[in-house]
Amino acid sequence: MISNNASKMIVLIGLMGSGKTTVGRALAERLNFSFKDSDETVEKIAKTSVREIFENQGEEIFRKLESQALVDLCAENSPIVLAVAGGAIISQSNRDLLQKNARCIVWLDAPTPTLISRTGRGKHRPLLDGDPVGSLNKMRLDREPLYQQVATHHLVTKSLSIVEVVDQIISLCSLENSSSR
Ligand code: S3P
Repeated sequence: MISNNASKMIVLIGLMGSGKTTVGRALAERLNFSFKDSDETVEKIAKTSVREIFENQGEEIFRKLESQALVDLCAENSPIVLAVAGGAIISQSNRDLLQKNARCIVWLDAPTPTLISRTGRGKHRPLLDGDPVGSLNKMRLDREPLYQQVATHHLVTKSLSIVEVVDQIISLCSLENSSSR
């Protein structure tokens, strides 16, 4: 259960290609919140790209940096929309942190073919290098229960435009009067 209702952090979770970054930017613009992306924060902390971290230091180090990024982002005082990279919810402590700090956590979902069509150019997604369909299907199986557990809302975006997804999040999370303007 979300304990901090006064928080102005809106969190988006979901598999790679679910639209967290695109929707997050549009939502942040609508609310006049800052937009943050956990992968970008990892890259700032590590001073290198997600792909290079995976290739040179390995996934374990990436996951540690990801947890550090979430701690830093949750300490922000200003209102933010936070796109949390797909694998961050694997960690129980990351899930606890997000639940403790977010006003709402929206799980963006779409069928695998839709995810595939959106992830084609993702340089920061080394886990999709070999067999993207197989990898995404396996991630879905492993992670769906965790998304389910942590999310306050579940939104299937397949046939929705970005504006429609933003509208739905605003309504689901009761954000109508939340603009920081
Ligand atoms: C990952 C998702 C990616 C990135 C990395 C690993 C995952 O972020 O952190 O490639 O394990 O699902 P996005 O979900 O923003 O694509």
